[in-house]
This record gives sequence, C-alpha cells and structure tokens, in this order.
Amino acid sequence: MIEKINSLLAEFENLKASNVQELEEIRVKYLSKKGEISSLMDDFRNVAAEEKRTLGIKLNELKTKAQDKINELKETLENSVSTDTSIDLTRTAYPIPMGARHPLSLVKKEICDIFKRLGFSIAEGPEIEDDWHVFSALNFAPDHPARDMQDTFFIARNPEIVLRTHTSSVQTRVMEKEQPPIRIICPGRVYRNEAISYRAHCFFHQVEALYIDKDVSFADLKQALIFFAKELFGADTKIRLRPSYFPFTEPSAEMDISCNICGGKGCPFCKHTGWVEILGCGMVDPNVLDNCGIDSKIYSGYALGMGVERITNLKYRVKDLRMFSENDVRFLQQFENAQ
Ligand code: DAH
Repeated sequence: MIEKINSLLAEFENLKASNVQELEEIRVKYLSKKGEISSLMDDFRNVAAEEKRTLGIKLNELKTKAQDKINELKETLENSVSTDTSIDLTRTAYPIPMGARHPLSLVKKEICDIFKRLGFSIAEGPEIEDDWHVFSALNFAPDHPARDMQDTFFIARNPEIVLRTHTSSVQTRVMEKEQPPIRIICPGRVYRNEAISYRAHCFFHQVEALYIDKDVSFADLKQALIFFAKELFGADTKIRLRPSYFPFTEPSAEMDISCNICGGKGCPFCKHTGWVEILGCGMVDPNVLDNCGIDSKIYSGYALGMGVERITNLKYRVKDLRMFSENDVRFLQQFENAQ
C-alpha cells in the first residue's frame, strides 16, 4: 500500500490540465467516490493495527496533496486566458456590415415627421379594400375612368374587392370611425395595373394627409403646403398651385415646387420649366364628409396626397423606378449614411 501511495504522489508532480474538461477528469480519477484515494481508504480498513498510524498519516498527506494539486491546476487554467499570447486583444473588431434603410422608407419617414411636427398622427388601412372605401365614398362616379380594369387590380374577379389604388381610402376609414378634429397622415403602398417601365410600376407608395375641423380653409392648406415644401426641400423652395380636378376635393389643385435641381432656372429634369409637380390637394368635397358621417354644414377640411417614389427621385435623383424594388445591394448601400 505504501508503494501505491508513493507512486500516486510521484504521479501528482507531473499532472497537467490544458482545459476544464481535463481538470475534471483528474478530479474524478483521484478524488471522486470511486477514485484512487477512496479505494485506498477502503483498503486501509484491512491494514494491521501497528501499521495504521504511519499509513494513516501518509494517506492524509496524499489526500491533501491531491486537493492542492487540483487547486493549483485550476488556478493556472484561469490565469492562462489573460496570458495567452496567441490572442491579440488590442486588435480592432471585424467590422460588422450594417444594413441601411431603404430610400423609400427614409423619405416616407421624413414626410411623416414633418406632418407630425404640425400635429398630425399616423393612420393606416388595408391594402385589399372594397369599392366603397377606395372609390364610392370618395365621390367617384360609377363610370369614373379610375375604376377601369386598365387601372385597378380586382381580387378574384369580384368588382367589389380591389387592391387600393390610392391611400385616400384610409381617409374614408378614419372619417367613418372618428369625429373631427381629425388630423392624420397615411403612408402606404398602392397598386395600379400599369406596364412596368423606368417611370411606372404596378405598385408604389403614397402619403396622404387629412385635416378636418371647424373653419378649416384653403389658406390653412396653403400654409401647411409652404411649410412642408420648405422643410423637405430647403428654405429657398417656392411653391405654385395649379387648379386641378379630383372627385373627392373641391376646389382641387396640384402643387409644383421650384425645381430643386436647377433652382428654378430650367433644366432637363424640370423640362426647362423651373417647376416640378409633387402632389395633389384640395378642400374635402362636402359629399365625401357626408358619405362618411361627418356633418359638412359644421365641418370642413383639406386633403393632400403625394407619391413617395416621386419625392425620392427628386431628393436622390434615382432615374429608374424599378431600382426601388430590385433589392440590388449596390443601390441600397448608397443610402447607408442617410438619416
Ligand atoms: N389620391 C390621389 C391620387 O392617387 C392623390 C390626391 C390628390 C390625394 C388630391 C388627395 C388630394 O388627398 O386631395 O392620385
């Protein structure tokens, strides 16, 4: 037995553990219930009485040595992480490529933020809509060309269910649910059955604004438009309103801004006119208010709507609309630093 103890003591001198798992293996081998030392303890019971004293001392020494050795190995392992020279902790981390916001999201957010500063809040509605919310409530006559098969996508040949062709449908939904004052901004995707080219797509994005209260006038609309144009395109931007027609507004207008590319002097982008059209607007037609349960004798309001792609083209000069939906990272990466 004494030889066994001595050989174990000698073994301890050369023990090494290069990881936690090896250390645990050593502990199990020597100190666990079924380990070497436990089995020596069992044998100790059968040792002759006169040998018990010396062997007992030796056995205790062995046990302490084993424990000390394991503690020592554990400590070396813990310290070795910081002294490991194969890892250079001063090296900069690998750059993790960050995604970028899509240009349409950037511009949509910018438009919405400007209106939020005027007290508008976001409203959203479904993309699959019914005829009432997209057309009828908004004063489109039954034979209005916008309902035409050429323009509108119908769902499952049902003339009542359509993909919304404009976000004005969200106005209808909000007016049906709420009483004035209403001050909402409605961003969203819209669909039209158009042949896809560099300047037209079968889906695109719009932002619509609606303000209804007592005594809202065309002057209020104009003030909001001037504020919006200057915030979006810079303080030098001028606006021009041209009379127009929309079934849901009366009077209606289209707004041009002074071309932000040539500053109004005339260039190929503005077709040498110095102006570019960016949105439609007008005073909400009293019929629309009444259709949606708002008393047109008490309330009036203005509405305006614009295409996000068009504004994005103006801000970032994207020449081909199709770029927006092709997911080409070379295009998208250019907006990494945009806010
Ligand atoms: N809904 C119109 C369209 O898609 C845009 C529009 C024009 C919205 C005038 C309005 C508005 O709210 O007042 O072409």
